[in-house]
Amino acid sequence: MADYAAFYQRSLQDPDAFWREEAARIDWQKSPTRICDASRPPFVRWFPDGTTNLCHNAVDRHLPERADQPALIWVSSETGEEKTYTYAELDREVQRMAAIFFDLGVGLGDRVLIYLPMIPEAAFAMLACARIGAIHCVVFGGFASGSLASRIDDARPTLVVSADAGSRGGKVIPYKPLLDGALAQAQHKPHAVLLVDRGLAPAARVAGRDHDYTSLRERHAQAEVLCAWVPATHPGYVLYTSGTTGKPKGVQRDTGGYAVALAASMAHVFAGKPGDTFFCASDIGWVVGHSYILYGPLLAGMATVMYEGLPIQPDAGVWWRLVERHRVNVMFTSPTAIRILKRHDLAHLKASDLSSLRTLFLAGEPLDEPTAAWVAESLGVPVTDNYWQTETGWPILTLARGVQPDQPAKLGSPGVPLYGYRVGLFDDVTGEPLTEPGRKGVLGIEGPLPPGCLQTLWGNDARFVSTYWQSIPGRQVYSTFDWATRDADGYYTILGRTDDVLNVAGHRLGSREIEEAITGHPGVAEAAVVGVADADKGQVAVAFVVPRAAGPLEDATQGEALTAEILARVAADLGPVARPARVVLVPVLPKTRSGKLLRRAIQAVCEGRDPGDLSTMEDAAALQHIRP
Ligand code: PRX
Repeated sequence: MADYAAFYQRSLQDPDAFWREEAARIDWQKSPTRICDASRPPFVRWFPDGTTNLCHNAVDRHLPERADQPALIWVSSETGEEKTYTYAELDREVQRMAAIFFDLGVGLGDRVLIYLPMIPEAAFAMLACARIGAIHCVVFGGFASGSLASRIDDARPTLVVSADAGSRGGKVIPYKPLLDGALAQAQHKPHAVLLVDRGLAPAARVAGRDHDYTSLRERHAQAEVLCAWVPATHPGYVLYTSGTTGKPKGVQRDTGGYAVALAASMAHVFAGKPGDTFFCASDIGWVVGHSYILYGPLLAGMATVMYEGLPIQPDAGVWWRLVERHRVNVMFTSPTAIRILKRHDLAHLKASDLSSLRTLFLAGEPLDEPTAAWVAESLGVPVTDNYWQTETGWPILTLARGVQPDQPAKLGSPGVPLYGYRVGLFDDVTGEPLTEPGRKGVLGIEGPLPPGCLQTLWGNDARFVSTYWQSIPGRQVYSTFDWATRDADGYYTILGRTDDVLNVAGHRLGSREIEEAITGHPGVAEAAVVGVADADKGQVAVAFVVPRAAGPLEDATQGEALTAEILARVAADLGPVARPARVVLVPVLPKTRSGKLLRRAIQAVCEGRDPGDLSTMEDAAALQHIRP
């Protein structure tokens, strides 16, 4: 059996040889002769003289061997529909979508903003972009007009692809009014809107701008659209994520490096094989969905399951019946989903034949020991935690099950650094590397980042450099903005974010974004949003709000009315995902003398911890209004 430590060492000692070998996992139109160009740090160009295409690698190249094998298995417990597309059928749909894109004026390098629920058309649209060298920007369907508008203005898409509605827990969520609201708010006006009509909600079309997918799809039934061979460094997509400021960051990823990194991870990390069925229960609007619902499994010639719905609807057995019916081999979800399932009768799980399942992967938030133990024991398969970020596109820390299946797991730790990542811990004040076991530091990665990680932030190289590469004092090291420790065996434990990013049920949200939505209310003077530990969701958002007038503080009815309006405003601006679990009206917020909000002290009080050193605080009494 291979030894992971040796495998890892080789990836660092001879990265060119290591990644040259991995690059053979994908098809190239022109094979790269150069592997890594790190001549302009912290920027890096992987496989700079190679040309390839992501759609070719995810779909076309499997056709000779796998035309009739399932590629995309779509299951919706929301609408009760289920449909399997073979590789040949997926290819047809993608070519039709690509032809529609051409028709609507999308060219190489143009952006296509995709605002869709978990329906097959989301996969077709992403792959169609890749096929023609357009850049997709998928916006999570749980986001509302404000979030959508800011992303439209940043990405400046030629085309927006959307649908009449999504559905959650049986409740139809009309998308078109949210999209129309966003397009009205945004400065940038896309050339066209393509609408998928699921028959769930009325969706009036704006003449000249909005187009009906069904009729265009008919028109292009036999369309043939060749893959555009693009440089490996051609941007494949932009995916927005939250950071410290209210302005979301457009994580930009390349084509060739991403394809190689994902193909490698399917083998080395997920121990998957061509022909396997991979079920990643995430959303296409998040990075986990990009990498492991869509591209990873398809690059590896697997069937991928795309699931629309909740894990407990119609009951907590729905995923397990799906595993049985489609003989799922590898599953991937979030600890939150497992915590939800854990509250239901184990009989739901035991009722299905899960013998096809080899392993379960969990990511996106800390995995607590009771959840890990419950699911491992109930399923009887190994459970592997993996730690990464939107920015990296694939795991940073985990156990590489495909390299060394018996590498021991440690409770509470996602594992050790994956090949290609030079991970370290750094003192947040001095920037010194922390080498002794047990020391808490900022988790950093020394450049060049391995293939698949972000190239830059869309349209903002300066922000990319200053945010990620100048946060650890005195050294140009990529900051993950996570605290961590490392034990004597090299296993890391993640201790939470160093910045103001919240993780609610595995969803990454910025304090600042929510605060800005709240302070947009004319009755609000100031707001502070913090993430507070929650047994089910990992964290929930709690908002402390200072009203402009004393009324809502003194009069309960006025207070309730303001609170309700604030909640409605956040939902309308950002979407229900961002809605705080609690809004607390306070006369004043704790701040430093220089006026900086003391979010960390607020959070500590909410979690019943010591708020720490308050000597820099402007008015120590302000903290008395903060109650758990
Ligand atoms: O704080 C870490 C947490 O989620 C952040 C990244 O979130 P996102 O960009 O949405 O990417 C998720 C990709 C899986 C990280 O900075 N996080 C992610 N995975 C874990 C985690 N925290 C603890 N354990 C994990 N396995």
